[in-house]
Amino acid sequence: MCGITGYIGKRDATPILIEGLKKLEYRGYDSAGIALLDNGKMNVCKKKGRVDVLAEEISKKPFKANLGISHTRWATHGGVTDANAHPHVSSDGKFALVHNGIVENFESIKTFLTKKGYTFKSQTDSEALVNLIAYHYDFRTDESLENRFLEAVRKALIHVEGTYGIAVISKEKPDEIVAARKGSPLLIGIGKNERLVSSDVLGFAGRANNVIYLDDGQIASITIDNCDIISIGNKPIEYKVKEIDWELENADLAGAKHYMQKEIYEQPKAIENAIRGRISDDASTAILHGLNMTAQEMRQVDRIIFCACGTAWHACLVAEQLIEKYARIPVEVEYASEFRYRNTPIEKNTLVFVLSQSGETIDTLEALRESQRKGFKTLAITNAIASTISRESDGGLYQYAGKEVGVASTKAFTSQVVICLLIALHIGRMRDLSYTAGKEIVEAIKKLPNLVEETLQQAKHIEEIAKKYAFNEDFLFLGRLDEFPIALEGALKLKEISYIHAEAYPAGEMKHGPIALICPECPSVIFANAEDVLSKVVSNAQEIKARKGKIIAITSFPEAFEGLADDIIQLPKMHDCVRTIVATVPAQLLAYYIALERGCDVDKPRNLAKAVTVE
Ligand code: G6P
Repeated sequence: MCGITGYIGKRDATPILIEGLKKLEYRGYDSAGIALLDNGKMNVCKKKGRVDVLAEEISKKPFKANLGISHTRWATHGGVTDANAHPHVSSDGKFALVHNGIVENFESIKTFLTKKGYTFKSQTDSEALVNLIAYHYDFRTDESLENRFLEAVRKALIHVEGTYGIAVISKEKPDEIVAARKGSPLLIGIGKNERLVSSDVLGFAGRANNVIYLDDGQIASITIDNCDIISIGNKPIEYKVKEIDWELENADLAGAKHYMQKEIYEQPKAIENAIRGRISDDASTAILHGLNMTAQEMRQVDRIIFCACGTAWHACLVAEQLIEKYARIPVEVEYASEFRYRNTPIEKNTLVFVLSQSGETIDTLEALRESQRKGFKTLAITNAIASTISRESDGGLYQYAGKEVGVASTKAFTSQVVICLLIALHIGRMRDLSYTAGKEIVEAIKKLPNLVEETLQQAKHIEEIAKKYAFNEDFLFLGRLDEFPIALEGALKLKEISYIHAEAYPAGEMKHGPIALICPECPSVIFANAEDVLSKVVSNAQEIKARKGKIIAITSFPEAFEGLADDIIQLPKMHDCVRTIVATVPAQLLAYYIALERGCDVDKPRNLAKAVTVE
């Protein structure tokens, strides 16, 4: 979703800002723009389309500046046009602003400002905000000249309902960037004789080794060698400077064709990172200090709620099955976007988990806050170190999967499921799970990286299968028990990157409706790795075959599908507890190769954003 970069220093700002925007492309966007302050002149260039289009346009202009802001926009208010792209400039020409988030009361702000003579060129909510800043700047002449710019931003923000991460520059103060956040991330990077602003560490493009994370309700005045932060209530804020771990943030393609491909292949490593230091062979359990809960506190939990969005929500559905099976605690899974408004009754001894790869998804963040408001211990599983969700939660576990750039989540999903399995083991061993049963799970987890590695070797075979089905427009994904969430995830991957309509059902539900879709043009991908229900899944496959439907079976029991499935992707034999993780890999590869065959841009799928920071 929208990305912000800003620069103040001694070097030419344009290439630095463009490079930052390129690093943020993965978040999803549809237009890009830049504003530069050059000897008191505000130069703005903005274009719909890719950052390359903007770079090409800007290369024709003689802009030179040491200070600027830039943006990639993912349209919310107003269509994808040059005029709606950011930065937006106030109608008096004094201020330029880039904004992530939504100003919910922009209509009333616009009406107010229109009456005062301000004019608008775009349909965006953000243009209302930059003009409101201009209004407060002119209205309040009593502020000392030193902080008048900062004060104008602060006063404008007091009137804003909604969310924002903003960076603002002003002709009146050409040595300062003002940045602020509420619900949308904003980071300040500290380099040598330069400061950067971004909505994501990657936007610093490796130029800063230290970072300040703004919290909600904070406003920063940033100059070449200083940063002062105040609250929206005008109190000075003491802040911490953190070191950036560039190894975890590394986002180079490293020879791969696409980030998605690279990240699919990084799964064995991501799984190793998720389990490192978290397994006790002696006690046959998982050691999860990050949960911040004693064994006594954990024993008192009688219900767990998981909240997330998208792929992470699918990981929650697997978590439900794993925890109920091994720890015997009832689990409920909620879409974070629903949980925050549904007013779910939560009993006394309920523990809430939120899952988020980015740690910034606004719905998940608000679900966390809602749960905390109600007084519940709320833990987070996130991949992004120091993300808002990880900072605000009462404890939790990092995935350590490394940066995920591909919009369609792959390694983050399998690593989330691994973490959930560790949680199931950890709680299970405090309750009903015996030492021996725990030991079997521990051994299975330790074998996981190799099992995934082995499965990845099927890539060529999967690519061949993909070629056969790439131009079908409908797919069905079926699985039972914990393979139903995997079916959902497989269908989602295909939809996201190849734009094929795909639906997922528990295999037993097929006959209650989806069977009407079965025909030679609608292939079914069947996950069949659960031995206890294998014969049932085979029967469902027979029902498909009888209606001339094509079948792709992903199974560790290939013999059961001989003569029945049109294509078989054979998985290694494995313990039940890890089958969802291993079985997801071929579904990811299938989606990847189908999308390539259809000529789709797998890393930048249409309309999608990597981290969704608006509701
Ligand atoms: C977006 C992404 C999905 C992701 C979801 C949740 O919709 O396109 O791939 O699963 O957000 O993201 P999170 O960072 O909270 O896991």
